[in-house]
Amino acid sequence: MATKILVTGGTGYIGSHTVVELQNAGFEVVIIDNLSNSNIGVLDGIEQITGIRPAFVEGDVCDKTTLNALFEAHSDIKGIINFAASKAVGESVEKPLKYYSNNLVSLINLLDMMPHYGVKGIVFSSSCTVYGEPDVNPIDETAPIKVATSPYGNTKQISEEIINDYIRSGAAIKSIILRYFNPVGAHPSALIGELPNGVPNNLIPYLTQTAAGIRKQLTVFGNDYNTPDGSCIRDFIDVVDLAKAHVVAMRRMLENDQTEAVEVFNLGTGRGLSVLELIDAFQRATGVAVPYVIGERRAGDIEQIWAEPTKANTVLGWRAEMPIEDTMRHAWAWQLHLQNK
Ligand code: NAD
Ligand code: UFG
Repeated sequence: MATKILVTGGTGYIGSHTVVELQNAGFEVVIIDNLSNSNIGVLDGIEQITGIRPAFVEGDVCDKTTLNALFEAHSDIKGIINFAASKAVGESVEKPLKYYSNNLVSLINLLDMMPHYGVKGIVFSSSCTVYGEPDVNPIDETAPIKVATSPYGNTKQISEEIINDYIRSGAAIKSIILRYFNPVGAHPSALIGELPNGVPNNLIPYLTQTAAGIRKQLTVFGNDYNTPDGSCIRDFIDVVDLAKAHVVAMRRMLENDQTEAVEVFNLGTGRGLSVLELIDAFQRATGVAVPYVIGERRAGDIEQIWAEPTKANTVLGWRAEMPIEDTMRHAWAWQLHLQNK
C-alpha cells in the first residue's frame, strides 16, 4: 500500500510541484490548503501531469477542528510536508501579527497532533533568509543565524527553534528542515507554476511579465553593490529540483535513516548568479528581450548569498540538475500558459 503524506499548502507554488514528485514516486498525497494564495484549479494541473488527483481538504491548518477531522479521516498519514505559510516579506512588516499567527500556530498545531495520530515526521520549509547577510559565501548549515530582518524571516527562525525544542523535549517525531535559496521556474509541462498575486515583488514573475508586455520595464534594484557587475547575487534553484529534494527527505525520514532527530539541509545549486546575469540567461534561453532600467537599491536586500549544498548532495544524495536556461524557458512557457488561459 502506498505511504500517505499530508502536504499542507499543497496547491501553492512549491507545494504543487512537490505533490507531483511525491505522486510520481508512488506516495499517496492528501493536501490541505485554505486557498489564501492559490486556487483549486492547481489540482487539475497536478492531475494532468501525474494522472492522479490528490485528496484535497479546503481548510486552515490553524484550525484544530479541521485538522483533527482530517487526521481522523486519514488515520494512516505517516509524514507531513509543511508548506502552508504566508510568505510576503513586505506584507509581514505591515502585518506582523498575521505572519506570527499564521506561520507559527499552523506549525504548533501540526506538531501537537503528530504523536497522537502516529505521524512519524515533518519536513519543514525554511529559508536562507535565516542566514541574513552572510559573512562568507557559499554558506553552509553551520553558519550563524543572524537577527531576522523581517517578521516573515523571524517566523522561519522561530519555527526552526520550535521544532528543535519540541523534539528535544522527547516528542516521538522527527524532522527535516530544508532551507531553500531562491526557488524559480515552473513545471516543464507549463501546467503548474507560480501564481502571480498583484504586482510581483519577486524577480522572475516581474521579469516574465515584463517580457510579456504586461509591465513596461523591469527595474534592477541597484548596480553599485560590491559584486562583479554591481547587482545582487542569489542562488536560483529550479522548483522541480527543489520538489525532488522533498521526496528524498521524506524517504530518509520515514525509513529511519536520519542520524539526528532534526536535520537541516541547504537546498541550492551552489552557484551564485547576479540579477543582470539572470536577465541575460532569460534573454539567451528564450530569445525574448526584457526591457530593464537600473534603479535604486531595495531596502533590506541582501547583497549576495549562495548555498554550500554539499551536505544535501552527500547525505541526501540530491543535487540540483536543471540548467538555468531550461529553468528560464519553463518560467516563460508558464507565463505564456497563464496568458492563454
Ligand atoms: P505559496 O504561497 O505559493 O504556497 C503556500 C500555500 O499555503 C498557499 O497555497 C496558501 O494558500 C497556503 N496556506 C497559507 N496559509 C495557510 C493555512 N493557515 N492553512 C492552509 N493553507 C495555507 O508559497 P510557496 O512559494 O509555495 O512557499 C511554500 C513554503 O516555502 C512557505 O512556507 C514559504 O515560506 C517557504 N519558502 C518559500 C520561498 C520562495 O521564494 N517561494 C523561499 C523560502 C521558503
Ligand atoms: N530584484 C530586482 N527587481 C525586481 C525584483 C527583484 O532587481 O523587480 C532583485 C532583488 O533586489 C534581489 C533579487 O532580484 O536582489 C532577488 O529578489 P527576490 O525578491 O526575487 O528574492 P529575495 O532574494 O529578495 O527573497 C526571496 C523570497 C523570500 C525568501 C528569500 C530567501 O522572496 O521570501 O528569497 O529564500 F526569504
